[in-house]
Amino acid sequence: MTETMFGASISAYQAEGGALLDGKTYSIADISTQNKGFLDSDVTSDFYHHYKEDIRLLKEMGAQCFRFSISWPRILPEGEGEVNPKGVAFYHQVIDECVKNGIEPLVTLYHFDLPYALYEKYGGWINRHVVDAYREYVTVCFREYGDKVRYWQSINEPDIINTYGGHGIDLDGKDVFEHDKYQINHHQALAHAWAVKLCHEMCPGARIGPVFGYVPIYPKTCKPEDFLAVEYFNSLHNRFFQELFLNGRYLEDVLIKIRNEGAALSYTEEELAFIRENPSDFVALNYYMSQCVSWYPEDAEKIERVDNKYGKKGSTVLPGIPGYYAEVDNELLEKTSWDWAIDPIGIRIMLKQITESYHLPVMVVENGMGYFDELTEDKKVHDDYRIAYMKDHIEQCMKAVEKDGVELIAYNAWTFIDLLSTSQGFRKRYGLVYVDQNDDAKGDCSRYPKDSYYWYRDFIKNQKTAVR
Ligand code: BG6
Repeated sequence: MTETMFGASISAYQAEGGALLDGKTYSIADISTQNKGFLDSDVTSDFYHHYKEDIRLLKEMGAQCFRFSISWPRILPEGEGEVNPKGVAFYHQVIDECVKNGIEPLVTLYHFDLPYALYEKYGGWINRHVVDAYREYVTVCFREYGDKVRYWQSINEPDIINTYGGHGIDLDGKDVFEHDKYQINHHQALAHAWAVKLCHEMCPGARIGPVFGYVPIYPKTCKPEDFLAVEYFNSLHNRFFQELFLNGRYLEDVLIKIRNEGAALSYTEEELAFIRENPSDFVALNYYMSQCVSWYPEDAEKIERVDNKYGKKGSTVLPGIPGYYAEVDNELLEKTSWDWAIDPIGIRIMLKQITESYHLPVMVVENGMGYFDELTEDKKVHDDYRIAYMKDHIEQCMKAVEKDGVELIAYNAWTFIDLLSTSQGFRKRYGLVYVDQNDDAKGDCSRYPKDSYYWYRDFIKNQKTAVR
């Protein structure tokens, strides 16, 4: 049985900064952080200049792996064509630093940050040409780093992109995105299959898989209608993506919905066969919360989701989709300030479901708790709430390994250092290490390990001793 590695995660546009440094250009994700009333991605946690210090802190914590992403526009500023040597060199340094310190790099090839140049030239992922550009980009990554990286992730959260938009993927507006989102997803599935094919050809021995943002879903009551709502939610938000990326097939119920809505989706049987011919080696998963639904009748009025942007508990408006489901509050679970349900058993349900459905090893590449952390005068953060969250979630992961036969390659806390949240600014902190930065961009980016860092360090140490 594989011994689970314990580590932590970041992503490029949320942590690196240096958004226009050394030849890098903006990504759509960078653009989407601008003029939002929060911090933008220009400096953020400045991992670009602090990576050595951060990897040293990782090492001192005993991390066995580090999950980070490569920024496509740092490697190919135009998205295709000319390679940026300084960008290539940066990730060599990061990877070498990890390897030197005995930390396994778990590298994501795409984490929301399509080069803006490709959006300007082709309209972004809606254009089939972007699949070719992605192929070109990952070829550079495999050629450069293929002899040092053993675990790759192709695309982060196609399912979350499809459900929530954002990250610049909907720069043309919500309506256009709603029309195009299944076609965008289809192109991302093709891009994923290309990454798998090229990885297997160019990096013998390396393993690759997609990353899903999985949401276990519960019925509000044991009424059959509520269970039907669960089935639909699962089809629309979980299985549709997993079946396409992992099995090269489309779910009928979602295809009917797409057709009824007149949304765009064209594909060929050859393309689906291409996905099937290039199977993933593992499934990477991000887990934050479970959700709860009840039946929502055909004649009810559609309710649009309104996000809780400022961490004011109870301010989320949950969506209702007539004839499918309405998301409802699960009053049995505690919530974070951003209304995310805290549910450790959910992570085990996710691991069990994925293992049973796809018979592949899994990797948790994100799991963590966003909080308004306070730095004390003596530069400490007493985040006992995060320690409780991690402890309970890791415990359930271990039960999934012991009792449910889950082959868990790695567990990674989201995040290692504080970084920019995807849509809720810098005050929503996830890090094990506090970064002196804020939404007013006035921080100096000094690092201060939080109590959770020390707790995780001791946990990893005990884990290693127990295994030996
Ligand atoms: C995942 C993303 O969806 O959730 C991360 O992969 C993101 O990039 C994380 O940061 C937490 O979401 P948020 O909105 O709180 O930053």
